[in-house]
Amino acid sequence: MNETARLFYALWPDEQTRAHLRRLQESVIGRKVSPENLHLTLAFLGNQAKSLLPMLVRLLDKLPAQGFTLGIDRYGYFSKPRVAWAGPSETPAPLLTLQQALMEELNAARVPLKNDEKFRPHVTLARDANSLNEPFAPGIPWRVSKIMLIQSIQVRGGVIYSPIMEKALA
Ligand code: 2AM
Repeated sequence: MNETARLFYALWPDEQTRAHLRRLQESVIGRKVSPENLHLTLAFLGNQAKSLLPMLVRLLDKLPAQGFTLGIDRYGYFSKPRVAWAGPSETPAPLLTLQQALMEELNAARVPLKNDEKFRPHVTLARDANSLNEPFAPGIPWRVSKIMLIQSIQVRGGVIYSPIMEKALA
């Protein structure tokens, strides 16, 4: 039996935002993320014992519940992993507050994190991608209304992101 799960917390787009992100994907050359998988990661936990799940679910209750608007208005490129992404040119304060609160709760719970680099909010559009010459993406105001704890399940030919719990932001 599999005793671990590959986990992350993410902001999940509403259908309108997802449709817009799909349009942004059209400008990108690479292995495109399946539209239903488009998201913005807040914290990547990697493989964790499934026994931690109740605590990781409860942790959502401790986070600020303020919703906010995130302007996705630029393309970006991480050259080493060859990731093309879309993101905000300005990170709204409530997003930083939310991400920092999540990191603090995870640290307090002594959950070992797989990525503790500086937070760079982005939605991965494609992997093994070419860099984009165009920095400005047609803007979308994403009204962020939920944060989710997700299990990433590797399947043949891709990955399924299975929601474990969501917390509404208002
Ligand atoms: P990415 O979109 O920049 O690739 C699920 O894998 C999510 O966790 C992805 O959004 C991925 O970010 C993020 N993530 C962060 N660090 C990761 C790592 N070391 N391995 C895999 N995914 C990672």
